[in-house]
Amino acid sequence: MKIVLERSIVRSWRGSDADALVKYANNRKIWLNLRDRFPHPYTKRDARDFLLSITSRVPETAFAIEVDEEAVGGIGFVPQQDVERVSAEIGYWLAEPFWGRGITTEALVAVTRYAIDTHGLTRVYAVPFAYNTASCRVLEKAGYVLEGRLKRSAIKDGVLIDQCQYAFTSPVDPPRAGSRG
Ligand SMILES: CC(C)(COP(=O)(O)OP(=O)(O)OC[C@H]1O[C@@H](n2cnc3c(N)ncnc32)[C@H](O)[C@@H]1OP(=O)(O)O)[C@@H](O)C(=O)NCCC(=O)NCCS
Repeated sequence: MKIVLERSIVRSWRGSDADALVKYANNRKIWLNLRDRFPHPYTKRDARDFLLSITSRVPETAFAIEVDEEAVGGIGFVPQQDVERVSAEIGYWLAEPFWGRGITTEALVAVTRYAIDTHGLTRVYAVPFAYNTASCRVLEKAGYVLEGRLKRSAIKDGVLIDQCQYAFTSPVDPPRAGSRG
């Protein structure tokens, strides 16, 4: 997969992205805003394991954000199951030196569209930590709507926190919206 944007290229991960991943993902400021399954410290082994698992996964739902021929971030979505198979959760991170240039907003708009179009979705949602004002802003700029605040719903770095639920919904019925009952 490859989507060429104005500020970046969103593309499939490659085995050769391991060094860039370690360089940029090994950042506590990034880890503090992500689920605990995102490792910290982020080692070469973590990078290799991630790339091995991701490059063999079908369908492909996790992508690198490339700037100047280097992978500087990640964006991906998780299609939901059963009656929620028309929904997916999206997540993303970007290397700190590249923050504030509109790179993630542009990538989020593109991958939201891609997820809806290729997976027949009606809803893509994200659940940033409430203190993550930058991510909330990115979601709003990309057309996501704040649906609610999930009070005391998560624990990060030993602290109980609120999360915000944002969603982008498509009014178009997907081809496989019918009942499977
Ligand atoms: C959140 C993150 C992805 C944003 O990426 P980015 O490419 O810098 O985002 P953009 O440049 O597209 O937009 C950032 C917006 O947030 C705003 N912003 C940044 N820090 C902010 C802060 N502390 N308070 C309020 N707004 C802030 C910027 O001003 C900008 O809005 P604007 O265009 O209206 O000025 C990046 O900071 C990151 O990777 N953080 C760590 C991981 C993470 O939080 N992932 C998301 C988990 S839900």
